[in-house]
Parts: sequence; C-alpha cells; structure tokens
Amino acid sequence: MAIIGTDIVEAKRLLENGAVIGLPTETVYGLAGNALDVQAVTRIFQVKNRPSFDPLIVHSNSLEKIAQFVQEIPPLARQLAEAFWPGALTILLPKKDSIPDLVTSGLDTVAVRMPSHPLTRQLLDTLSFPLAAPSANPFGYISPTRAEHVQTQLGDKIPYILDGGPCEVGIESTIVGFDQGTPIIYRLGGIALEAIQSVIGEVQVLPHSTSNPQAPGMLKSHYSPRKPLFINELNTILKQYPAEKVGYMGFVSLAAQLPPQNQILLSESQNYAEAAQRLFAAMRALDAMPQLEVIVAELLPEEDLGRAINDRIRRAAAK
Ligand code: TXA
Ligand code: MG
Repeated sequence: MAIIGTDIVEAKRLLENGAVIGLPTETVYGLAGNALDVQAVTRIFQVKNRPSFDPLIVHSNSLEKIAQFVQEIPPLARQLAEAFWPGALTILLPKKDSIPDLVTSGLDTVAVRMPSHPLTRQLLDTLSFPLAAPSANPFGYISPTRAEHVQTQLGDKIPYILDGGPCEVGIESTIVGFDQGTPIIYRLGGIALEAIQSVIGEVQVLPHSTSNPQAPGMLKSHYSPRKPLFINELNTILKQYPAEKVGYMGFVSLAAQLPPQNQILLSESQNYAEAAQRLFAAMRALDAMPQLEVIVAELLPEEDLGRAINDRIRRAAAK
C-alpha cells in the first residue's frame, strides 16, 4: 500500500526519480508524474489502466513556466487564466515539442491547468518540470476526492499519496479550447458555464459522445459506480426491486418511498458548490452499501454547477 502523508520533500524526491504519486488538487485527486519524462507518463497510463488515446492535463504554477512548453497564450485564453487561475479551469493551448506526444495523445494542443490547492502549489514551486496528472481513479470509475479513495483503488501501484484533505470543489476542472479562435467547452466542470461566459461571452459546449475524435477521452460512459445507476426512475425501479435494495442520491430532499439509510442528499440547502463537493463521495458510498443493488440519482436544475454535476450523473448512468 502507498504511504499517505504531507511530506512535500519526499513527494519531490519521488517525482524527480520518475515515480508516479497521488496528489491533491482542489477539484479531484490526481495521479502525477513528470510531464516531460516519457517513462513517468507511460507509468501514469499503466497505473490508471487508461487507453493511450485519452490525453492528460499538465499542471504548472506560473505563466512563465507554462510559456516554456506552449507556443502561445492567445488573448481569450489569457483573460480566462487571469479570471480563474489558480483554479478549476483547464485551457487547451498549442504545445511545443518539449511536451511528449504521449501526454497529448498525438494532438497538437496540450491541456494546461494551474491548480489552487496550497500543498500542490508548494510542491510545484519546488519542481523544475510540470506535472501530468489525470484523475487518480482506475479508468472509467468515479474520481477520487480524498486520499483514502486513491489508496483503496491505486494504493498497491504507487509509493506515495500526498494528503491534502477532502477536495474543496469536488468535480474535475472545466476544459476550454479554441477552434480557430472560437472558444469551446470540452468538459463542463468546477467553474460554471455562466462564470466563463461572464468573462468571454457566449461559449459553445461540446456534446460528449462515445466516439468523438475531437474530444478524446470524453467518453459517454465514465465516472461509473459498479452498481447500475438510473436517473429519475424511482417508481419504475420500485416495480423491479424491493425498496430496501434501492439507493438514492438526491439534491435537497429524501425520497419518501425509500429507507432514509439508503439515501444521500447532496445539499439540503440547495447549494450547488456543496453538491459538487459531495457528489463523488456520495456515489462511492452508495456503491459500497452492501444492502443496495441499484442506485437512482436525481438530476439537479440545469444551471450553475448543476450542469457539470448532471453531466457526471448522466455519464455514470450511461451503459
Ligand atoms: O480537475 C481536473 O481536471 C483533474 C485534476 C487532477 O487536475 N484532472 C482530470 O484529468 O480530470 P483527466 O485525465 O481525468 O481528464 C482530462 C481530460 C481527458 O479525458 C481529455 O478528454 C481532456 O482532458 N483532454 C486533455 N488534453 C486534451 C486535448 N489536447 N484536447 C482535448 N481534450 C483533452
Ligand atoms: Mg478522469
């Protein structure tokens, strides 16, 4: 099993030796390695069991460092960076050759993010290279928002997990790219669509699909618990399963038809940020409850972080 700790010096030593470690960000935990080292990046794909067509996000802590591995930061990207970095925003930028093709799955853009988690910022400050880091879950499963989640699933494959406590945002970053200068959202995430639009105006959201070569990795079936998950179909499900075996993830209020101990509410105060923070831990908890055979999830209103939360719930429900 991995050692869990807060030792930045040890994390730095391991990363400098080409190791892959678990690391906290404000969105979800990452599985990090030296983005400029092909062997370390190869190890990330192996540990996650991730197909090589799904590119990684590169994390850095300063625009000067980022300028060393991207061709340019166009004006709209710069505005977004100024508004939301450090934070839950990833920007697709044209890469330089120093970023291995493996990191970007052969694409000529690299996904870049400046995380805000203090421990990881401190670590990045001491490193001479950026960190490639996908979410630290096995490919296709729910993203981790606590060090223990990483330990449970990948602890036997990595030496160390830097423990930064529970993730504040709780869902992955919003990914913005540009198609001939026009901004496009590749993945809804921790920065709400409305917030992005307040900075750069109207933005198109790319629909995810099972085989969209434009958006590698944006697979429809993702973030999935092992138990089948259905959306808003409680009464139908109750014709097939006894109430004791049905779990429920709701937003504000409990489902009267089910035992309360089978249910988790994301935010009784209707707070989207709180709901995002709790989302993945709630899915994991329901997945782990031994009495349950299926999970029913309620969609949130389609606004603010509700959009990104619904995107995760829909993908978790996709077969
Ligand atoms: O919040 C986050 O973004 C977390 C933390 C650890 O930073 N990371 C994360 O990484 O969610 P990951 O690998 O689970 O998801 C990154 C997604 C990929 O699935 C891929 O679709 C997209 O980013 N991506 C990366 N590079 C891309 C590129 N050049 N063009 C299009 N999409 C890209
Ligand atoms: Mg992921």
